[in-house]
Amino acid sequence: MSPVPRIIAIDGPAAAGKGTLARRLAAELGLPYLDTGLLYRAVGRRVLDSEADPADPVVAEAAARALQPSDLERGDLRGPAADAAAAAVASVPGVRAALLDFQRNFGRERGAVLDGRDIGTVIFPEAPAKLFVTASLPERARRRWLELRAKGTPAELATVEADMRARDAADRA
Ligand code: DC
Repeated sequence: MSPVPRIIAIDGPAAAGKGTLARRLAAELGLPYLDTGLLYRAVGRRVLDSEADPADPVVAEAAARALQPSDLERGDLRGPAADAAAAAVASVPGVRAALLDFQRNFGRERGAVLDGRDIGTVIFPEAPAKLFVTASLPERARRRWLELRAKGTPAELATVEADMRARDAADRA
């Protein structure tokens, strides 16, 4: 029997602090780190590039199957358009199935820290360490608003909070 890979699964909603914790743990333990939200963001971007609707299951699944590691380096994976496209493709079952192997392969050899929504439940249910990170909606919205401001993207706090509430609902669907 092969040994259980050293996987740390970190799940939770948007802007809860998963990424900060995951990056620190990965650096401390010398493990590779994967922000799995970037996969959905990159798939959403590929669909937008082809001027199709990210909610179209056929186009979205084809984009997920064509995903290249270099897509994760794109500079346009954050912001409201990428948020919305990512949430739309993430609700397509064929997209989730297409991204499953990518995520499992990432952690298989050396172990890894992965953050997302379904790492401890679907991607690595056998992970020896599983963390769930969350914070209240107003606090998560405040953090996202501060991030946007720091990047020079002006936004109303109330709008950021409303968008986040809608994304929470879409991510739960
Ligand atoms: O964590 P994030 O905001 O970068 O995630 C982008 C979108 O992808 C969000 O709508 C949730 C979705 N997602 C998912 O469904 N499963 C994951 N493992 C990671 C992200």
